[in-house]
Amino acid sequence: MNKGILAVYPGSFDPPTNGHLDIVFRASCLFSKIIVAITENASKNHIFSLNKRIDLFQKITKNLKNVEVISFSGLLVNYLEKINSFILIRGLRALSDFEYEFQMALMNRKLNKKIETIFLMTDQAYTFISSNMIKEIAMLGGNIADFVPDCVEKELKKVCYCDLSKKIIQSSKY
Ligand code: PNS
Repeated sequence: MNKGILAVYPGSFDPPTNGHLDIVFRASCLFSKIIVAITENASKNHIFSLNKRIDLFQKITKNLKNVEVISFSGLLVNYLEKINSFILIRGLRALSDFEYEFQMALMNRKLNKKIETIFLMTDQAYTFISSNMIKEIAMLGGNIADFVPDCVEKELKKVCYCDLSKKIIQSSKY
């Protein structure tokens, strides 16, 4: 354990998955404290509100005593500077993640040369899971139980059921 080191795990987490939980667990064993920093990112079409994503991440990490979940806006490097942290945690699943992550890590380091990004690899059981795929499967009525924690599955079902009902009502009008 790196005593006294505060690390930040940023993302949109829409929704948080078993893969995210695996990464935050691994990070919590390596550093004194992990801040899960959730961004609103207006350019993305989120299925869950910022408050719901915070609530879900807090629920799934309630047993990890050194993990705190917060939201941030603006540049990530500015947030890191504000809380005096210089370590970013990101998860890597497959080679396809690498280009985007590499670019982001180098850009963040260019914006603040003290920042280091540390990549953790998920358990191989989660390498194919992505929030976008899970949303699509849930929207189409597929089983997502193996990919997300129970509370996330419940919330996704609520949203997707609502969405499906709206579509049925809509199509019955014509
Ligand atoms: O895992 P995600 O959802 O793709 O996370 C992307 C995230 C939130 C880490 C990234 O978009 C970000 O840092 N946004 C904050 C704005 C910012 O600092 N942008 C420059 C990144 S190089």
